[in-house]
Amino acid sequence: MPNLAVELNRLHLANPILVASGTFGYAREMAAFVPFSKLGGIVPKTITAEPRRGNPPPRTVETASGLLNSIGLDNDGLETFLAKHLEYLVGLGTKVIANIAGHDREEFLQMSGRLGGIEGLSGIELNISCPNVSGGVDFGVDPARTEAIVRGVREVCGLPIVAKLTPNVTDIVAIAQAAQSGGADAVTLTNTFQGMAIDWKHRKPILGNVIGGLSGPAIKPIVLRMVYQVARRVPGLPIIAVGGIGSLNDVMEFLVAGASAVQIGTANFYNPTLAGKLVDELDAALASEGLASVREIVGTLKTP
Ligand code: FUM
Repeated sequence: MPNLAVELNRLHLANPILVASGTFGYAREMAAFVPFSKLGGIVPKTITAEPRRGNPPPRTVETASGLLNSIGLDNDGLETFLAKHLEYLVGLGTKVIANIAGHDREEFLQMSGRLGGIEGLSGIELNISCPNVSGGVDFGVDPARTEAIVRGVREVCGLPIVAKLTPNVTDIVAIAQAAQSGGADAVTLTNTFQGMAIDWKHRKPILGNVIGGLSGPAIKPIVLRMVYQVARRVPGLPIIAVGGIGSLNDVMEFLVAGASAVQIGTANFYNPTLAGKLVDELDAALASEGLASVREIVGTLKTP
């Protein structure tokens, strides 16, 4: 049996298949579809310090090969997360990585400090890349702000830190380097791409917030390129890839490009059993390649 365990600096996972924030609720919703303990980890919906109502509807639109969303970080806030969801999540037999977003650096630090003292959490994913709220991507498009947030969180919180980056930048390598300088254990590549949909007959945008974030198969080649670039140019910074993964072949492509782990996102909406099945399929694929561990395939792309 191949060894599926992966180590992303201080974040250790039993296998590299996780589920992405915003596509898996707080896990209860997916109990009928996924044997949670099989997963490498769960990243629940982003938490903010205070409850947020999110953006006006419509909040999602299906596109030719993807999904546009503009949820606007609708959530009940940190205290309700701790009271209502945490105990359930940490009892599921898999790693739970809390995803947080702050209005500013201080709020990121306050939330991380509070979460750092919580028994059972395995890490924090910093959402410095949400395209759907005012200021959401501002942190993640600026290397200095990225580094400052990660460094600050590292000072106040002992949990492993993953920075979730936005693809809406010219140079993803510069942002990844900044996250590493700040002390990130890993980066998640990537959040959604800014996009929009139009009802031309009514001359109106379809999303209530006009602009949203595109995910799903449409973005996979672009994220693959970013994973490849960061893996080559930022050694020592493990990558968790997320972007249009819908099959084992997609997983293998990301691993070969240099990702150490992956998150299943949009596919949870149309194929909710996929994440659990991928763990078995990965095991079989590695065995058929004659590999003793998943680590042996990470970053093995041959380029001219
Ligand atoms: O609108 C949203 O809640 C999306 C969040 C994100 O993409 O990080």
